[in-house]
Amino acid sequence: MDKKTRIAVFVSGGGTNLQAIIDAEKSGIIKSGKTELVISDNPEAYALERAKANGIKTAVVLKNNGQSEFEKKISEILAENKIEMIILAGFMCILSADFTSKWPERIINIHPSLIPSFCGKGCYGLHVHEKALAYGVKVTGATVHFVNEIPDGGRIISQKAVYIEDGDTPETLQRRVMEQAEWILLPAAAEKVAGEIAEKGESYGHL
Ligand code: GRF
Repeated sequence: MDKKTRIAVFVSGGGTNLQAIIDAEKSGIIKSGKTELVISDNPEAYALERAKANGIKTAVVLKNNGQSEFEKKISEILAENKIEMIILAGFMCILSADFTSKWPERIINIHPSLIPSFCGKGCYGLHVHEKALAYGVKVTGATVHFVNEIPDGGRIISQKAVYIEDGDTPETLQRRVMEQAEWILLPAAAEKVAGEIAEKGESYGHL
């Protein structure tokens, strides 16, 4: 196998999607990339424990000195670790156009709805499922997309539908969307994009 794409996963919380990526690397579903680094804006994120338990390097970058300092620090760490692809897996910060433009079609995100429904600024975490239930849709799901300067606005890579059931709460729906869609969709999309980057076989300009 040729060189694997060097991946950084950005997290803020529990890290079940990070776990799905780690498991997929172990089982061979992801074979074109390797998670070399996990970055969190939240020092308490349980995702950091998952990374450490699997021998993956971690970094915590706080946002308290403003967006541009935050992104400058992240960029330094990415360069130090020769990262070629970024996966946003429950990362609760919006990245600026300045940052995303340096990573064209090299950042992917998982969003817990069928974009363009229930997405964009303010639509994150449990809120997404609250809005889907309040609207009364019967089908929701998850979407993996490239990240550009528009929140949840980059080109869609893959989607999976999940049925809403009678009596669903935001919590039960969130869990079903994760189990039936997110944890399957994200590793598969990661493999696809990591494979495409590996095929290009070039080191990336800004490194
Ligand atoms: C997931 O639902 C993801 O789609 C959303 O935030 C949640 C993160 O969960 N963006 P986890 O940290 O991966 O468990």
